Amino acid sequence: MVVVPVDAQGFSHVPVMPREVVAAFASHGQGVLLDVTAGGGNHAALLLEQAPALRLYAFDRDPVAVRATRAKLAPFGARATVTKASFAELPETLAALGVTAVDGVLADLGVSSQQLTDAERGLSFRLEGPLDMRMDPTRGPTARQLCEELSRDELADLIFQLGEERASRRIARCIKQALEVGELTTTSELRRAVIRAVGPRRVGGVDPSTRTFQALRIAVNRELEQLQGLLEVLPGWLRPGGTAALISFHSLEDRLVKHAFQQRQVWERVTRKPLVAGEAELAANPRARSAKLRVAQRAEEGEP
Ligand SMILES: C[S@@+](CC[C@H](N)C(=O)[O-])C[C@H]1O[C@@H](n2cnc3c(N)ncnc32)[C@H](O)[C@@H]1O
Repeated sequence: MVVVPVDAQGFSHVPVMPREVVAAFASHGQGVLLDVTAGGGNHAALLLEQAPALRLYAFDRDPVAVRATRAKLAPFGARATVTKASFAELPETLAALGVTAVDGVLADLGVSSQQLTDAERGLSFRLEGPLDMRMDPTRGPTARQLCEELSRDELADLIFQLGEERASRRIARCIKQALEVGELTTTSELRRAVIRAVGPRRVGGVDPSTRTFQALRIAVNRELEQLQGLLEVLPGWLRPGGTAALISFHSLEDRLVKHAFQQRQVWERVTRKPLVAGEAELAANPRARSAKLRVAQRAEEGEP
């Protein structure tokens, strides 16, 4: 059994590859870092603990994560500033904070354990909840609205591309049928619609609805567009020699990071192949199984 620690604010999340993240920024102990996916502030707290002269700005699009991170980083006083912002909002937010050049940027992509285990967020097929899936509940359509707005073919394409689900056409048809009869308001209704399309059989222990949930979550939160936008602007924030460390959890994200870091005039890769969690971490934190950490430094020469 894996026990997920819950901190004083009731936020549960175990940060992945903590030692590797701290090592990535070890040479910037006197500098300024951005953590653009604060979550529960766990990586941020570790980084601040390790380097007493470090200044850190943390951001998250989820108001619950922002509250938890503020509480977690309160002991560090003025060394930490926590602000609600999505990647797309960061250029404006950094300008408002007066932050122009930094020494490092950390992004630990995807969702936190806290988000996954809060039934109200509708992110998990394991928990009964509204079919919402938004990381920022104040913005954009919910998963249910997205299923309504898209045509059957558009929905099938989305499930195929973002979930890498081969049965996407059958699944989209069953989702649309569920909508017509008013049976697509909860996570269990979405799971039932998928099972009607593909049957209940688990392949390799994976629930048949896993890929459809992943696809809808990525689409609702525009995760790939947000990441692509971040990768385009982030070299402009880093001083030459500054470090970017990005942790991705599925191949679509990792591919974007890998391609961005291949631009030689902008980046010098620190990791050629992505770092992955070791045996001991995997045994303690199964969420680390799909994590890939890529680290690169802003090239000394050349324009971003
Ligand atoms: C894996 S968790 C980060 C956990 C954190 N590193 C920690 O140690 O507690 C990912 C967080 O990133 C946030 N997030 C994901 N995409 C985002 C985006 N485009 N803009 C801002 N925050 C985002 C999520 O809301 C979530 O809280």
